[in-house]
Amino acid sequence: MAGQPGDPQGVEREKQIAAEAAAELVEDGMTVGLGTGSTVAFLLPALARRSLDIVCAATSPRTEHAARELGLRIEDVASIDRFDITIDGADQVAPDGWLVKGGGGAHTREKIVAGAADRFVVIVDSTKPVQALHSPIPLELLSFGLRATMRRVAPASLRDVPRSPDGGVIADYHGPVDDPAALAARLSATPGVVEHGLFPPEMVATVLVGRGESVDRTDFKHSWSSS
Ligand code: 5RP
Repeated sequence: MAGQPGDPQGVEREKQIAAEAAAELVEDGMTVGLGTGSTVAFLLPALARRSLDIVCAATSPRTEHAARELGLRIEDVASIDRFDITIDGADQVAPDGWLVKGGGGAHTREKIVAGAADRFVVIVDSTKPVQALHSPIPLELLSFGLRATMRRVAPASLRDVPRSPDGGVIADYHGPVDDPAALAARLSATPGVVEHGLFPPEMVATVLVGRGESVDRTDFKHSWSSS
């Protein structure tokens, strides 16, 4: 049976099998970007079990700590200019490949590491695919001028969470998401918005969805090139 929000064990199992399928895509010698979240938490042991000769970089202190504990070799993102593969979860996946990310407030770093990858692989359980994206859309905002920025991105609310590791304030946009590209362009063009959680299909190479005991795979042809 596919995982349902009311069936937490099924959902966790789906995260695990999607993460394990993604771990199989990693090969010796690769530089690997590691996302953040509960699905990525299943990826890390699956990757460690493969004992590959790989270099990883993490998108959050939480992922970095967990990966090191498992013996994965972690380097500073600052020393890496491209990744062979980046693997990360998502909060929503639309049929055309648009994503919403940032449920954990790590979307700025996640977008940088996804955008620097030759191949960005998304791992989700079966509650994440949606027919159309909807709010909330996570935001990271500069604290300078925060009230003015909040007015420009209204309707929005501040999230009651610590600042990002880069000092950004985490918020959520609550308005309509009828046209993700137009909204993404509007948010990107708003002074004070460090980054938003809308990820374009061009960035996405593969989506792996855990469904029951199997994994549905979609490959997107319009894959982003990090070169
Ligand atoms: C964190 C993210 C996560 O990838 C997203 O929230 C999905 O998390 P999970 O795997 O726990 O469902 O974008 O900023």
